[in-house]
Amino acid sequence: MNDVTGMPQTAVVIGGGSDLALAVMRRLASRRLRALVLVGRDIARLDQAAKELSDLGVKSVATLVSDVCDAGGHEALAHDCEQLLGSVDLVVVAAGSLGSAELDALRAEDVARSIETNFAGPAAAITAFATLMRAQGYGRIVVFSSVAGVRVRAANFVYGAGKAGLDAFCQGLGDALAGSGVQVVIVRPGFVRTKMTAGLSPAPFAVDGDAVAEAVVRGLERGSPVIWVPAALRVVFAALRLLPQAVWRRLPG
Ligand SMILES: NC(=O)c1ccc[n+]([C@@H]2O[C@H](COP(=O)([O-])OP(=O)(O)OC[C@H]3O[C@@H](n4cnc5c(N)ncnc54)[C@H](OP(=O)(O)O)[C@@H]3O)[C@@H](O)[C@H]2O)c1
Repeated sequence: MNDVTGMPQTAVVIGGGSDLALAVMRRLASRRLRALVLVGRDIARLDQAAKELSDLGVKSVATLVSDVCDAGGHEALAHDCEQLLGSVDLVVVAAGSLGSAELDALRAEDVARSIETNFAGPAAAITAFATLMRAQGYGRIVVFSSVAGVRVRAANFVYGAGKAGLDAFCQGLGDALAGSGVQVVIVRPGFVRTKMTAGLSPAPFAVDGDAVAEAVVRGLERGSPVIWVPAALRVVFAALRLLPQAVWRRLPG
C-alpha cells in the first residue's frame, strides 16, 4: 500500500541495473520505500544495486534474473514479485537498448531484437503487472519511453520506432485502465548522461540521471500521466513534430 503521502512502499524494477531506474529508487529510498525487487539479466550488477539500496535504508531488496524479451515468463515473474512483496505499489519498466541504426551494418535480426527489447518485451511485462494491479485494485506503472519515439529520426530510427510503439501502447493501456485504480505513467526523457549514452555527444537539453529521478518522483506526487525531462522538451517537441519532413531530415545528428 502507498504510504500516507501517496508514495510507494513496495516496488519492482524491470531493467534493475538501469542507471535511471536506480536514480529513482535512491530517491524513493529516502521516501520510505521498504521493499523492492530488482529484475534483470546481470546478477552482479543487480546485487551491487541491491546492496546500495539496502545501505540507503530499503529493508528488503530481492533480485531476480529475467530477460525482458522472455514474454512467456512475465506472468510467473509478476506472481513471484507479488509473493516477495505482498502487494506491488509501483513497477518501473526501464529495460531498453539503444543499438544502432547504421544501414550498412543493420541486420534483420538486430531490428527484431531491438523491437523486442524496447517494445514487445516491455509491453508484455507491463501487461502482466497491469493484470496483477487490477486485481489488487491499485498500483502505478512507470515506463521509460523517450523523445526518440515522439518523432523518429534517421540517426536512431530502430530504437525510436520501438519507443514510439511502447509509448503508444502505454497511452492506450492507461486509457483502458481508467477507473481501475491503476495508473500508467509515461516518462519521456531527452538525452540523459548514463551508461546507455556513454561516449555519445550530448544532445541539446541533456540532463543527468538525478534530474530524471527528481522529475519522476515529483510526477508521482502530482499524479502526472506523462513526464517530460527536462519539462521544456514538451514544448520543443510540440514544435518539432510540425516541421516538414524535408527540414526534419536535415537537422544535425
Ligand atoms: N539515457 C538516456 O539518454 C535515455 C533517454 C530516454 C530514454 N531512456 C530510456 O530509459 C531507460 C533506462 O535507460 P538508462 O539510461 O538507465 O540506461 P542503462 O543504464 O543502460 O539501463 C538500461 C537497462 O536495460 C537493461 N536491458 C537491456 N536489454 C535487456 C533485456 N533484454 N532484458 C532485461 N534487461 C535489459 C540493461 O541491462 P543489461 O545490463 O542486462 O544490458 C540495463 O540495465 C531505457 O529504457 C532507455 O531507453 C534513456
